[in-house]
Amino acid sequence: MHTHTPFTNLAFCVRTFGCQMNKHDSERIAGMLEGLGALPVESIEEADIVVFMTCCVREAADTRLYGQVASLKNTPLRAGTPLSKRVVAVGGCIGQRDGERLVEELPHLDVVFGTHNLGSLPRLLEAALEEGGHHVEVLDAASSFPTELPTAREHAWAAWLPITVGCNNFCSYCIVPYVRGREKSRPLEDIVAEAEGYVAAGVKEITLLGQNVNSYGRDLYGSPRFAAVLDALDATGIERLRFATSHPKDLTDEVIGKFATLRSLMPALHLPVQSGSDAVLAAMNRRYTRGHYLELVRKLREALPGIALSTDIIVGFPGETAKDFEDTYRLVDEVGYHQVFTFIYSKREGTPAASVDDPTPRDVIQGRFDRLVDLVQQRAFEANQADLGAVVDVLVEGASKRDAGLLAGRSPKNQTVHAPLPDGVSAGELAGTVVPVRIDEAKTWYLSGTLADDGAAGHAGAADGR
Ligand code: SAH
Ligand code: SF4
Ligand code: F3S
Repeated sequence: MHTHTPFTNLAFCVRTFGCQMNKHDSERIAGMLEGLGALPVESIEEADIVVFMTCCVREAADTRLYGQVASLKNTPLRAGTPLSKRVVAVGGCIGQRDGERLVEELPHLDVVFGTHNLGSLPRLLEAALEEGGHHVEVLDAASSFPTELPTAREHAWAAWLPITVGCNNFCSYCIVPYVRGREKSRPLEDIVAEAEGYVAAGVKEITLLGQNVNSYGRDLYGSPRFAAVLDALDATGIERLRFATSHPKDLTDEVIGKFATLRSLMPALHLPVQSGSDAVLAAMNRRYTRGHYLELVRKLREALPGIALSTDIIVGFPGETAKDFEDTYRLVDEVGYHQVFTFIYSKREGTPAASVDDPTPRDVIQGRFDRLVDLVQQRAFEANQADLGAVVDVLVEGASKRDAGLLAGRSPKNQTVHAPLPDGVSAGELAGTVVPVRIDEAKTWYLSGTLADDGAAGHAGAADGR
């Protein structure tokens, strides 16, 4: 039962861009608004309140936001709404960066908030509902850790758990430290208490979040304590544990060793390399070399043969030469990633790299990018062949988007897996359970197979994932 609030029976919709940190923040927003009696809806057309959680890591996301908010002006209100005008809010990293400038450019915007004051959103929306006008509030630094807010998770069986916010690394191309502030760690007791709550609520998979989880604890305890977080999380009894993101300069042997010893830690690691050229890595201020990175890969495979590696790569960083690019190409060929997120360099005002001119023509950069993507696909296809014939434990997410007769879920290595649903069992019934699937087809971006123990409805065995 809710007491009556200004939000009672209003419909809201949150549109999220960018990284998992933003997706998680959106779950907190949904949690707060639902707690106040508002109702979540899928479409903007059906919503009385629209919240955009924005990203400015590359230019494309920026342009999209301004377009989407502008076009809202012409979207009619839903039938039966008590409001005379839809209330529109912008938060996240563009909110943090642009503040007042947003309402100057988009006058029908009602509320702007930043990355440090998620918790202010209900108050700002309430002011907009009751008084009209613009309500802009952007703070410099976090006054409280956002995780003290309620959350409405997208899936009952999976939870994101931020262990740090902000970033101290200042890679020369990156806007994140400017819009998320300095790195701040959460006390270990808070993290464990939240994880225990999730385990008790039936959550199967926890993903620890931070811009660089490896430096967790440096601000609180004087030295990084990420390995201790992994131990403590494993001890909660969580079935599957993952984390993102890991900076190669701070990935320790101790953390690598956890892949060999911790029951719950899934055999997959996202380890962004950005470039395979030492000259470019130095210009990016990444503070590791190609050789160091390849040594990490060797140690990871020694600790856990078959670990699935994924990475991020930027093509066309200012000054990248043909030789630099070949170094990146060769590194990708050598490592054999399961997945690579490839980006063309995007100039971000205010970052050190933005003041470096680059004479390389656009079509040359595009040509490098296309070549790299071809290689990535070829190597991902090859990496997936290793699972042909294997039985893998799949955490079911629901029905496949392409075929309602197929279940879709995730393998321990984080591959998408499809399998026909048993007769009379719906994808909804299996969602959130772990089922064994025998893999008989391995494609570039997914595996498919058949349930290994006929109609394993409800099978939720404590898979150790290896
Ligand atoms: N903290 C994480 C994620 C940062 S943003 C990390 O360090 O890996 C995610 C990815 O976006 C980065 O890994 C990088 O590959 C890419 N990226 C960041 N800034 C960019 C820019 N200016 N142009 C192109 N890609 C960028
Ligand atoms: Fe950006 Fe580098 Fe921080 Fe990642 S580690 S968020 S790429 S500055
Ligand atoms: Fe984008 Fe902000 Fe994340 S800029 S990548 S949403 S931290």
